[in-house]
Amino acid sequence: MKVVHTIQELRDQLRGQNRAAFVPTMGNLHEGHLQLMKEARQHGDPVVASIFVNRLQFGPNEDFDRYPRTLAADIEKLEAARDVYVLFAPDERELYPEPQNFRVQPPADLGDILEGEFRPGFFEGVSTVVLKLLSCVQPRTAVFGKKDYQQLMIVRNMCRQFQLPVDIVAHETVRDADGLAMSSRNRFLSEAERAEAPRLYALLQGLREQVIAGEMDVAALERAAQDDLTAHGWQVDYLALRRQHDLRAPAAADIEGKTPLVIVAAAKLGATRLIDNLEV
Ligand code: PAF
Repeated sequence: MKVVHTIQELRDQLRGQNRAAFVPTMGNLHEGHLQLMKEARQHGDPVVASIFVNRLQFGPNEDFDRYPRTLAADIEKLEAARDVYVLFAPDERELYPEPQNFRVQPPADLGDILEGEFRPGFFEGVSTVVLKLLSCVQPRTAVFGKKDYQQLMIVRNMCRQFQLPVDIVAHETVRDADGLAMSSRNRFLSEAERAEAPRLYALLQGLREQVIAGEMDVAALERAAQDDLTAHGWQVDYLALRRQHDLRAPAAADIEGKTPLVIVAAAKLGATRLIDNLEV
């Protein structure tokens, strides 16, 4: 695997390649990331990954400074998995050599709800860096995890509206054996919090079963799941049943008419904020 830190080196490595498959990450790689890289191999060649902790997508009170930076260990994992041909690991000066005044502004009806409501500016930061990374790598395909459901949708819509010549591929959320979605932030959980954390996914599964069984009082179902989390020490940002295609709340006709739905959730356990979702 070639590790490059500048856009020039990246372009030199990829000269003449027009079938690259790309996996952008913020590093601190775990099995979930490695599976995205494996998926990427099915969609293009060579596979390019990036590691860049993007300051633009962190709010002033968020964990940018303590976000784990583990480049040497990440490189070891990628070398061992043998799926990635080029790793692009720029520093901030390389990707943001001047203040990033031009930004991608996602539409409010998608970018300011759910995650966007609790993390103002998050999707602007994500969209802007993803556009820049796509411009650096120029892949034919890029792979994103479904765990960040709203992010995946926003990136997809951005690429469609800007008519970028890239296919966005979604990869299923990778989970630990007890159901907890893999995330770089899981390492911040204490032992007791780690034991509690699978409750989030278990509640999503329960809610899904009830919707499938025809339970129509969605607000009551959501409230029961939120209350359960709160009773076990969580601080819930949102836990909601939404339509898959626009992440808006479903009307009765959507539930009866079998519109594809998704349950999305974000909640804090101690100081660690976890997100998850489950398609219905
Ligand atoms: O999902 C992530 O790791 C980040 O939001 C991304 C897509 C790499 C952009 O910084």
